[in-house]
Order: sequence, then C-alpha cells, then structure tokens
Amino acid sequence: MTPRPVIIDTDPGVDDAMALLMALASPELDVVGLTTIFGNAETTVTTANAIWILEVAGRADIPVTAGASAPLAAPYLGPVPQVHGANGIGGTDPVTPAGSAAAGSAADALFAAVAKRPGEVSILALGPLTNLAIALDRHPSIVDLVAEVVVMGGNALVPGNATPVAEANINNDPEAADAVFGAGWPIVMVGLDVTHQVNLAATAIARITGGETPEAHLLAAAVPTYQRFFEVTNGLDGIYVHDPTAVAYLIAPDAFTTERWPLRVETESFSRGKTWPNLNNTDEAVLPAWNGRPLVQVCTGVDANQVLALVESRLGPPR
Ligand code: RIB
Ligand code: CA
Repeated sequence: MTPRPVIIDTDPGVDDAMALLMALASPELDVVGLTTIFGNAETTVTTANAIWILEVAGRADIPVTAGASAPLAAPYLGPVPQVHGANGIGGTDPVTPAGSAAAGSAADALFAAVAKRPGEVSILALGPLTNLAIALDRHPSIVDLVAEVVVMGGNALVPGNATPVAEANINNDPEAADAVFGAGWPIVMVGLDVTHQVNLAATAIARITGGETPEAHLLAAAVPTYQRFFEVTNGLDGIYVHDPTAVAYLIAPDAFTTERWPLRVETESFSRGKTWPNLNNTDEAVLPAWNGRPLVQVCTGVDANQVLALVESRLGPPR
C-alpha cells in the first residue's frame, strides 16, 4: 500500500493533537507538512504546539509553516482556554519546542505541497479555513492540482457548538469558509453531523493516556481539560473526537455516508458561521444564493464504532 500524501492545516488544540498523532501513526497516510492557524489559540501558540507535537512524536523532519493570525474580514474571536487550556493544549504553561517554523506563509506552503505532486496530495483542514482561502486567492490552480480537501467543520442538519447555529472552525472565519466550499475543488465536509456521534468514552481515554510512550504522556497531560469541558457543558462521559474523525475519513471513507449538496456559509446576522446546504439542489432558480455553487460532499452518517476503534488502535497501546 502506498501511503496517501497529506498536508494538514491545524490549530492545536487538544483534538488536533490527537488527530496529528493519529495521522502520524497511520501507515495509510504520509504527512508531508503542517500549516497552522488561529482558532483554539493564537497562531503563535498553535504553531509552537504543532512543532512540539511533531518533536514528541519523533517527526521533527516534517515542516511546520505558520499561517494567518486573523480571519479574512473580522477580528479573531479569541482563544478558548476553557476547552483547550491556556496553552491551547490542555495545560497552562506555554510549550517550548526546540525547533521553529519554516520560512514562508501557510498559504504558499499548501500550494507548494500540492503543486509538487499534482493530483496526489490531499489537504486536511482541522481549523478555521483562512489559510485555504488565501491559497485559493493567490494560487487558483490549486483547485485542479489537489487530490482532495477534507474539512473538519460545519453543521448541515444539526445545531452548532460555538453558537446555537454555527460550528467553531467555520464560525472563526465564515468568509473564508464560504470561499473554500465554493471553490469547485473535490471537497468533503466532516462536520458536527458526524463528529457529534463519535464519543470517545472515558474508559477508552484512560487506555490511551495510560500508555508509556511519549505520545501517551502528551495526551495524558492534554486531554483532561478537554474532557472536563464536555463533562461540565454536555454531561458527556468522554469527548467528541472532532479532528480525529476527519483523519478517520481519510483512512476509512467507507465508514461514512455522504450527500452531495451546494453549500453556502452565512456571513451576516446572528446566524453568522452557519453552513447552509441547499437540500433541494435542483431548485437553483428560486435560490439564487446557491446558484452555480459546486457540490460539496457532506458527511451525514458514520459508523461511530468503526471510527472509535480506528482512533484507539492508532493512539492507544495494543489491546
Ligand atoms: O468544532 C470542533 C473544531 O473546533 C475542532 O477542530 C476543534 O479543534 C475546534 O477548533
Ligand atoms: Ca481543530
């Protein structure tokens, strides 16, 4: 099996850390680079976290390129220490990686990685979509060069998590998300419709964080803050593994069911950040906002047990 090359745009982030470690542990994937974005914390913080995660995993050879520090058209909404800790990765003290970011911008790094191997490299987006939107604007040919774009974000048929109607990654830059979903490249939305079905139980978390590897120690420090958040706000026994579910899509797309809909992102009003599919996509004449929009593959169903088994097999000690 030839591993599938992927460049990951990320805002680590506790579930991002899990997703990155899962991707690195998966023989189906070849992580060729990381690019960083604000979201769970400022871009300076998520960049340090990304570099550190790679160092812990013994993969400091993978380049990390820092991305935008603010959304396209609005101020950054700010970090979420109650979810991801003050350092963005479940703790209070900033992490201090030995290495530093590669020169250049995330948008250019995304394009360079994709253009190097036309039709082969996928982009996995685990944070707000600002870097992808800038890449589209600067390098329109990326649309025809990328193998696939997999986005963790959005909510088609279910409520939001950042607001009653909007998911956090999309809510952090709705203008960018609208451009990314309208670009006409092969794109899959792995949103709350499926990630809110994938709950990694406390018993599985204990197995993963009880391991003796550096990766397990990292997760043992990172996950408890995130777990407490879900316990307090959702009464959940466990955590939603949003970003690892998107990694699972890359590895095992058959675990998901999808629909193809034109999609818009609301950029005005109290619904800002809501991803709106046109469920009746033949009705373009009466729905001009969706007129001419390309189809987005939207995940609507998931075999949660299959995804959870995959997450645990890649992050946990052998069972
Ligand atoms: O809504 C879930 C997403 O928002 C995940 O990517 C998580 O890391 C947070 O940023
Ligand atoms: Ca994320």
